[in-house]
Amino acid sequence: MNQLPFEPYKIKTVEPIRPSTRKQRAAWARQARYNVFALKAQQILIDLLTDSGTSAMSQRQWAGIMEGDESYAGSINFQNMERTIRSVTGFRHVIPTHQGRSAENLLFSAAVSAGQIVPNNTHFDTTGANVRLRGAEARNLPVGQAVDIDSDYPFKGNMDVAALDRLLEKEGTKKIPLVMITCTNNSAGGQPVSLANLRQTSEVCRRRGVPLFIDACRFAENAYFIKTRERGQRHRTVREIAREMFSLADGATMSAKKDALVNIGGFLATKNTRIAKRVKELMVVIEGFPTYGGLAGRDMEALSRGMEEGLDEGYLESRIGQIARMVDRLAGAGVPVLRPAGGHAVFLDAKRFCPHIPRDQFPGQALSVALYIEHGIRCVEIGGVMFAQTDPETGKTVYPKLELVRLAIPRRVYTDRHMDYVVDSIADLHGKKNGIRGLRFTYNPPRLRHFLARYDFA
Ligand code: F0G
Repeated sequence: MNQLPFEPYKIKTVEPIRPSTRKQRAAWARQARYNVFALKAQQILIDLLTDSGTSAMSQRQWAGIMEGDESYAGSINFQNMERTIRSVTGFRHVIPTHQGRSAENLLFSAAVSAGQIVPNNTHFDTTGANVRLRGAEARNLPVGQAVDIDSDYPFKGNMDVAALDRLLEKEGTKKIPLVMITCTNNSAGGQPVSLANLRQTSEVCRRRGVPLFIDACRFAENAYFIKTRERGQRHRTVREIAREMFSLADGATMSAKKDALVNIGGFLATKNTRIAKRVKELMVVIEGFPTYGGLAGRDMEALSRGMEEGLDEGYLESRIGQIARMVDRLAGAGVPVLRPAGGHAVFLDAKRFCPHIPRDQFPGQALSVALYIEHGIRCVEIGGVMFAQTDPETGKTVYPKLELVRLAIPRRVYTDRHMDYVVDSIADLHGKKNGIRGLRFTYNPPRLRHFLARYDFA
C-alpha cells in the first residue's frame, strides 16, 4: 500500500480561498434563506457539501482532456472508456451517461413499471426519486446496525438479506423487476457492504430469478473497506475485490463523479443484453447516442483514466485515512459522530449535538447553517428535511430514525491542515451548541425539498 506519511501527490494547480467574516456570512446565510444550496461558491471557506464532481483531476486526466476525440459516433475516447469499464467490472455492455441519476432513470425506464417494488439496502435520494417517477415503490432494507449510531459494526451498509428473501418470496418476480445494492451505502453514512453480504444478496436474487444491480458510485472505497475490514481479504488487491463485487451482479449504475474522479460523467454497465438494448433505444431520445450519452469525448477520456486512478491503493489509503483521523479527533473531543468512519464523509449526529432543538425545527439543518455562519464550512443535512414523509393515513410527519449532518470530503482537494480547521471548528461549535437555533420552512417544495426549500429561524 501507500507507506508514504503524507498525501501521495504534489499540488500543481491551486484555486484561491477567499477569507470572510462571521458578519458577512450571517448576511449571506440570510440572503440564501438558510438553505446552503443557495449560497455562492465564493462565500464558502471549506466546501464539504458533496464529494460528487468535486475531485481534483490528475495530470494524466488533464492530458486525456487534450486527447478528446469529439466524433459524434464511435469516438476513440468511448472505446477507451468501454475497455476500462469492461476490464474493471467484467460487464460487456457499457453505456455512458452524463451522470449517475441519468443511468438510474434509463435503467428504471427500461426495466421497472408502475406498481412494482425496487428493494435496495438504502436508495440514495435521486435513486428513490427515479423509482417513484416510474410509479413504483423504493423499498429500503438496511441491516439493523445501520441506524445504531453506537454500534462499531464494520459493515453497516449491508443489505438485510433475510428481509430481502422474504420480500422476494412474498411478492415474486412480477412485482420485483430488479434489486439494487448501494456500495458504499451513502444514505446510511457512507458505510460499506461486505463481500459476504454481497455474495448472499446475489445468491438470493439468483435463486429467486431477479437481476441484481449495484449502485457503484463508491465501489472502490467499498472494495478498500472489504480489503481492510473483512477477514481473509487483505492479501487481495482492491481491483480483484472490486471485480468480484461486480461479478456477483447483473449490472451497475455509476456516478463517475465519485470514485472515477471526474467532474461530470456516469454510466450503466450490464451483462443483460435485453436491458442494454432497451436502454440504447431510449437514450437516443433523451440522453444521446450510445457512444457518448451526454458526455464530450474528452470527458469520457478523463473518466476512463480516473476509473483506474480511483483503484490506486495508496490514494485510497490516504483518502480513507484522512476521514478516519477526523472521526477519531472529533470523537476524542466529545462530538457525537457516526462510527466507524465511512468512506467519503464525516457524519455528525445532530439529535445529540442539538438536543434542545425539536425534530420539527430540523436540528440537522440548524447545525449545518450554524457551522456555515460560525466557521464558513458548508455541509448538508441528511435527516428530517431530506427524508421525512407524511403518513398517508394519519397525515402526520414521520421522521427518519437518523438526523445526520454530512461533511463530504472532496477527493484530492483538501489537505490535513484544512481538515484540522474543520475538526477544530466543529469542536468549537459543540462547546457553544446551546446557541444554535432551530428553523422553520417559509417554502416547502413537494419533492427533493432540501435543494430548493427556504427557511427562517423558528
Ligand atoms: N447513487 C448514490 C449512492 C449517490 O451518492 C449519488 C449522488 C447518485 C446515485 C446520483 O449520482 O449525482 O451523478 O446523478 N450523490 C451525490 C451526493 C449527489 O452528494 O451524495 P449523480
